[in-house]
Amino acid sequence: MHRRIIAPGALAAASLMLAIPASAASHSPGAPGIGDPYYPAYGNGGYDVSHYDLRLKYQPATDELSGTATILARTTQDLSSFDLDFLLDVSEVRVNGAKASFTTSGQHELVVTPRTPLDKGTPITVVVRYSGVPSTKSAYGFNTWHRTPDGAVAADEPEAAWWWYPSNDHPLDKATYDVSVAVPDGTQAISNGTLQSTSSQLGWTRYSWRQNKPQATYLTTLAMGKFDITTSTSEGGVPVVNAYSKDLGDNDGAARASVERTGELVDWLSGYFGPYPFSSAGGYVPNTTTGYALETQTRVYYSPKQFAKGSNASVVVHELAHQWYGDSVSLKGWKNIWLNEGFATYAQWLWSEHEGEGTTQELADYVYASHPADDAFWTVKPGDPGPDHQFDDAVYDRGALAIQELRKTVGDDAFFAILKGWPQEHAYGNASIADFQAYAEKVSGKSLGALFDTWLFQPSKPAGVALAKSAVVQPRSWKKIAAAVDGAH
Ligand code: TRP
Ligand code: ZN
Repeated sequence: MHRRIIAPGALAAASLMLAIPASAASHSPGAPGIGDPYYPAYGNGGYDVSHYDLRLKYQPATDELSGTATILARTTQDLSSFDLDFLLDVSEVRVNGAKASFTTSGQHELVVTPRTPLDKGTPITVVVRYSGVPSTKSAYGFNTWHRTPDGAVAADEPEAAWWWYPSNDHPLDKATYDVSVAVPDGTQAISNGTLQSTSSQLGWTRYSWRQNKPQATYLTTLAMGKFDITTSTSEGGVPVVNAYSKDLGDNDGAARASVERTGELVDWLSGYFGPYPFSSAGGYVPNTTTGYALETQTRVYYSPKQFAKGSNASVVVHELAHQWYGDSVSLKGWKNIWLNEGFATYAQWLWSEHEGEGTTQELADYVYASHPADDAFWTVKPGDPGPDHQFDDAVYDRGALAIQELRKTVGDDAFFAILKGWPQEHAYGNASIADFQAYAEKVSGKSLGALFDTWLFQPSKPAGVALAKSAVVQPRSWKKIAAAVDGAH
């Protein structure tokens, strides 16, 4: 339905209006944000992307990135203009083949005005030609493009895409990807999914990667550098591609001793979460100096620091658990972050129990006992932590504790049915904590409102927990349990 408003005086101006296409009056600009209250400017309104094709070239010596993004999308409203989230320098934008005008606005908005307005429900093809030095661009005073001695890495949460490709940057708009990057011969380019081809020409080697399942923008990763790439297939049949910087120094052995277990751990997690949702798995360890790991889809990013104390299968379990909880089933909005981090942490607890390093109940009791009631830890609500506390310990540890409480409330049979059923229920989609509660209630037949409220939505330490007191008084090994919790993330 096109809404037409005839303003006073419009009839007198009728001759002027003849120059405007008949439908233009009802078309309006797409919103500069998708509507997430944690990050009002992230993502955009008015269209839905189905595929990104990124054909790029990167020069490690200068950090210059250039190329073309071709974006396939469909409009969700009548649009006079729309935004993409992006920071690099744009030289040309085309919409459905025709040159469009463009400008920048806000911290990271590229505003595109097509020659003719776009009707709701229309497939559109947007071509953006661009170049730039990502390490020189910032928004809100920060930059998440990580330079390394031999290249760079794009892996961050919730902001990573702005520095390397134009996008609708929010997990609500997932899409498939072809990422093809040319780098100087001798350098490798790593991205998500399967390596479709490599080809060499004029001193440049092109790596072409494909992600054939929907992927959130922040889970799309890119790393250029000197890597050793390994390939294998898990016992359960999942192809595994890992990459290690040739410059990992003393961390090299521990990194490989952890990440080379990806296939084994994918198969082990499948026992709890159901079939692995993607056509490839693996991880990469670049020579970055940041400390994190990130669940970039199918190709997890690990900082070498994760392996500084020795092997760390636990972090691999955490990031692989996210492939089900976070990547296949993505958040409807960032406030639902517990659906990612609580479950990835709980997977580490299951692994700890499997390894004989502390049971899930011992770890839950440890988290409960190690934070006194006046600890600020309890003021963060895992179910709605706020953007400034999105990745606080409470989201992870209290978040996993909440899952243990759920398990005790519904019983093991219902609990493990929920754990395995949920990733199927919302495979390749988006969900909220409310959706999860409704699903858990359906499977268990129990009303869980009070439980969720107590453990996820109260800014205080829940009282009267049926603690397994024996575990608190006489833990199997406090040291090991503390290490399992503290080393979790
Ligand atoms: N999601 C990551 C994890 O738990 C943690 C994380 C939060 C992160 N913010 C980040 C990682 C920024 C890298 C960069 O595994
Ligand atoms: Zn995590």
